Amino acid sequence: MKVQINDPNLKNYWLEKYRPQSLDEIVLDENTKMKMKEYIDMKDIPHLLFYGLPGTGKTTISYILINALSDIDNSLIINGSDNRGIDTVRNIINPFLECSSMDDTKRIAFIDEIDGLTPDAQMSLKKIFEDTGRIGSRIIATCNDIHKIQPAIQSRFEIYYFKPLDDNEILKRCKYILDTENIQYTENDVLSIISKFKPDMRDVIKNMNKLIINRRLVYDITKMNIAKEETILQIILQMFDNRFNKNNQDQNFYRIMITKIHEIIGTDPERINYMYIFNRIVIDETIAYSVKIIINKYMINDQKAMIKSANFMAGIYNVIFYPNNI
Ligand SMILES: Nc1ncnc2c1ncn2[C@@H]1O[C@H](COP(=O)(O)OP(=O)(O)O)[C@@H](O)[C@H]1O
Ligand SMILES: [Mg+2]
Repeated sequence: MKVQINDPNLKNYWLEKYRPQSLDEIVLDENTKMKMKEYIDMKDIPHLLFYGLPGTGKTTISYILINALSDIDNSLIINGSDNRGIDTVRNIINPFLECSSMDDTKRIAFIDEIDGLTPDAQMSLKKIFEDTGRIGSRIIATCNDIHKIQPAIQSRFEIYYFKPLDDNEILKRCKYILDTENIQYTENDVLSIISKFKPDMRDVIKNMNKLIINRRLVYDITKMNIAKEETILQIILQMFDNRFNKNNQDQNFYRIMITKIHEIIGTDPERINYMYIFNRIVIDETIAYSVKIIINKYMINDQKAMIKSANFMAGIYNVIFYPNNI
């Protein structure tokens, strides 16, 4: 587990959780959607190239198609921005596409961000297009910038443009997420977030996720004084890392860390927002479920605890010293 200093990003938890899993869920213009549905019903696709601005659903639709037409053994996922050179095409993509599948499952090479491939690498894909139809192999590719794709390569794809989602569609999806998560919010705050980050749906969801505190959407985070809470959280993450990943058994280490927390809590312990810290812990993807189960117990107690700081510290002691007593 890495300790994320000052990263309120929470690893973009909602982004993956709310990545649409089916055609019904994804927001797409009607024609494209109908065409994709047809392909899924036919159990076949041409080579497909999706282009458009970031956060419009290109990677998502690709995964939906792959899941519908192929399986793990018959799909290859390559990110063109990370694997840019001709070797990727020669040694990985082409050999993969040259094999046929054992049944009528499609063999699909998904080249996400194909505009990251060098022109040479793109051109070395050319020949493979000619052979693949016969074998039943297909290519799905995405890119932001269509002009970076060699014309000779473009012409081998069926191309779809992903237009930016309009505000209303984004709002509907945001409200769906917030309602499913049982978050309190005002539509105005959601609209402010949308207008700041649109049309990139990824940015909208990521930032909305970041602004949830205590099951409430808090748009103006600067109004909350959370400096102490953040510092305490970082110490706790360090303790958890030592305890569960590094298996540090040195009791003295934990005593010192706990003393530090007491120092930060200081003389006015009831002014600290403990729920904020609990919340950050339970949505941190790097923390084990067994720890979250314990923390959750103390979150529930927080509501009725007379001395919230004592309840909070008891939760931390429980995790560090008696993690098996759930
Ligand atoms: N058309 C869409 N409909 C619903 N959600 C979307 C759509 N586009 C993007 N999203 C949201 O944004 C995230 C990123 O989308 P992604 O498909 O990775 O975008 P990109 O076009 O950059 O590949 C997804 O996890 C999903 O939550
Ligand atoms: Mg993408």
